[in-house]
Amino acid sequence: MIRTEENRREQKRTEENRREQKRTEENLREELKSLEGSWHSPINLGHGVITADRNVQRRFTRRLKLMQIPKNMTNMRVLDIGTWDGFFAFEFERRGAEVLAIDNWNDDKQFRTFLFARKHLNSKVEYRKMDVHDLDPSLVGRFDVVFFAGMLYHLRYPLNVLEKIRSVTEGCLILETVIMVPFIHEHFPMKAFFPGDEEANASGRSWGISGAATISWLKEALNSAGFVKMDVKYTSSFRWLYKIIALLTNMPQGRRGIIHAFTR
Ligand SMILES: C[S@@+](CC[C@H](N)C(=O)[O-])C[C@H]1O[C@@H](n2cnc3c(N)ncnc32)[C@H](O)[C@@H]1O
Repeated sequence: MIRTEENRREQKRTEENRREQKRTEENLREELKSLEGSWHSPINLGHGVITADRNVQRRFTRRLKLMQIPKNMTNMRVLDIGTWDGFFAFEFERRGAEVLAIDNWNDDKQFRTFLFARKHLNSKVEYRKMDVHDLDPSLVGRFDVVFFAGMLYHLRYPLNVLEKIRSVTEGCLILETVIMVPFIHEHFPMKAFFPGDEEANASGRSWGISGAATISWLKEALNSAGFVKMDVKYTSSFRWLYKIIALLTNMPQGRRGIIHAFTR
């Protein structure tokens, strides 16, 4: 008899918890719906709410794996450049790092998503609205790991930016960018001319691969900026297919690549 009463109470508590969780999830989904933001990545806000669909989730899971970021980042100071909604910054924090996330957040809709995720994750990631061209150790200090993904080919002054990044890097730069895959001469340090996103968008003149550079250009540029060792972690497995496409279309192709560059 007593046992049955206890079971009934336990069942009631479980029901209440379930209802409470459902309410929290619904409130979060409502808040998310009313946010005028633009999400870039699949941030898991808890309560079963993720900010992007399964395809995007798969893409980011793969990216994370290919980047070969240290699993344990305890005691590391990390800079995430061009963070957008903060996906990687929050991941570094989850791995134990102290993180500064920067972005120029020219689009307020991007900035809103970052703040939204930061609040709901209870995150302590520091952030600064700043242009990567203005990086300076006297403003932000130095970092064990600098993360710079999906940005280099958007920029008008890439070499200048690599120098700025070097000035704040004390250990390793993790660079993910678009690599130019021409039919021939891939070993040459070549780079497509690119006036930078703003000018390219305004003029409507785009060559499709933005400011993509060959692997060779990237290594030379990193070396020239002061990095002493480069480790290419990833280039497209279908490089030869894209070389053939480049031949047939008479246009270099762009594929993702990842390089770790070291200061010592
Ligand atoms: C394609 S997104 C990459 C987002 C993220 N890093 C990733 O790899 O998924 C490029 C980001 O860089 C930011 N950005 C572009 N130019 C910038 C600049 N000059 N200084 C700082 N951030 C910039 C944009 O606002 C945007 O959030």
